Amino acid sequence: MHGVVNVEDLRKRAKKRLPKIAYDFIEGGTDDEVGLATNEQAFRNARIVPRDLVDVTQRDQSTTLFGRTYSSPIGIAPTGLAGLFRRGADLMLAEAAREANVPMIMSGTSTGSIEDLGRIAPDHGWYQLYSAKDQAISEDMLKRAADAGLKTLVFTVDIPEGSNRERNVRNGWARPLKLTWKTKFEALRHPAWMMEWLKHGTPMFDNWEKYAGPNATADTVADFVAQQTRAPMTWKHVERYRALWKGNLVLKGIMHPDDAIRAHALGVDGVMVSNHGGRQLDIAPSPLEVLPAIRDAVGDKMTVMFDGGIRRGMDAIVALCLGAKFCFVGRPTLYGVAAGGVPGAAMALDIFRREVDITLAQIGAPKIADLGPQFLMWKDEEDLRRNRR
Ligand SMILES: Cc1cc2nc3c(=O)[nH]c(=O)nc-3n(C[C@H](O)[C@H](O)[C@H](O)COP(=O)(O)O)c2cc1C
Repeated sequence: MHGVVNVEDLRKRAKKRLPKIAYDFIEGGTDDEVGLATNEQAFRNARIVPRDLVDVTQRDQSTTLFGRTYSSPIGIAPTGLAGLFRRGADLMLAEAAREANVPMIMSGTSTGSIEDLGRIAPDHGWYQLYSAKDQAISEDMLKRAADAGLKTLVFTVDIPEGSNRERNVRNGWARPLKLTWKTKFEALRHPAWMMEWLKHGTPMFDNWEKYAGPNATADTVADFVAQQTRAPMTWKHVERYRALWKGNLVLKGIMHPDDAIRAHALGVDGVMVSNHGGRQLDIAPSPLEVLPAIRDAVGDKMTVMFDGGIRRGMDAIVALCLGAKFCFVGRPTLYGVAAGGVPGAAMALDIFRREVDITLAQIGAPKIADLGPQFLMWKDEEDLRRNRR
């Protein structure tokens, strides 16, 4: 894609290609979207202090996670309904991740199937579970993920209930997803997307189709998913999934150190510190703010990962300095795939890889293991020092 040099450029490209109703679904947070802004702002308060006179001619950003070495410390977070932004987007993301040798987490409301993920990216694909009211469904999904050869299951725990996403309300987001005249009129300015919509209609939640009864359509499956995922979710579920899933088990959406400690006690292998990209609780802290306490609480006993607000390679470096073992991005790779399919998603990953590489050189840390809190200072500390002067 000519003229794209950073993630912000990809965002603009995605915005251009998508109608407002779809773009806002990606971009939006909840309520006043304070949480969304705080996630990115948290990085603007960080300072990385460079060290000089270090030989950085040989740099290596490869990172080992659950016994597998990836080429970069930034993977693809799960994002539901990706097929609405480009048909086949879930598997395009998987393909881009495989080629870049980074993990890709298929959403529990993906528009591609577990089985296809296993075919396309068995070594890079992870599956994210949304617990179903009918536990037999969740347990069958675990079995399907294992049968497909996937080794890591991510259980998302931060959606106890739907949230107040006002952009969607204003855009007339509904189930079944029907485009109002106003939406259709606006969508005409995005003809490539409109052609796809006219050809394919509502994308199917592939993984749920088989449970929704005979002759299920994309709309009836969407109703079924909404009804099934409005289920109580407690630590009992974690215990159950731990007993059933033999691979790596990760809880996504952990924001409190005590929850991380409890997860560890139940035999969970990893946590993703995340506030769902500011899409659930608007007044929640940014994951960057809670990361150090969670890392302190569990130390090296479990794998602490991070997502939320990363838009530059140097943002990921800050999270790694604070003790995250690995980072994920949600919106940036969606921008890429929406704007340009597999090459667009690959471009997002490549931009991050390049920016991480440059940052490692600039700060005198040729490999990821060199990173740590010794590189960091904070904007507030500057203010403090100024005040003392
Ligand atoms: C459009 C969209 C859909 C998402 N769907 C899911 C999902 O199905 N499951 C999940 O665990 N997280 C979901 N998330 C949250 C992401 O996995 C991730 O936590 C978040 O996007 C990270 O923040 P970032 O977008 O600033 O990188 C979604 C995020 C977006 C933007």
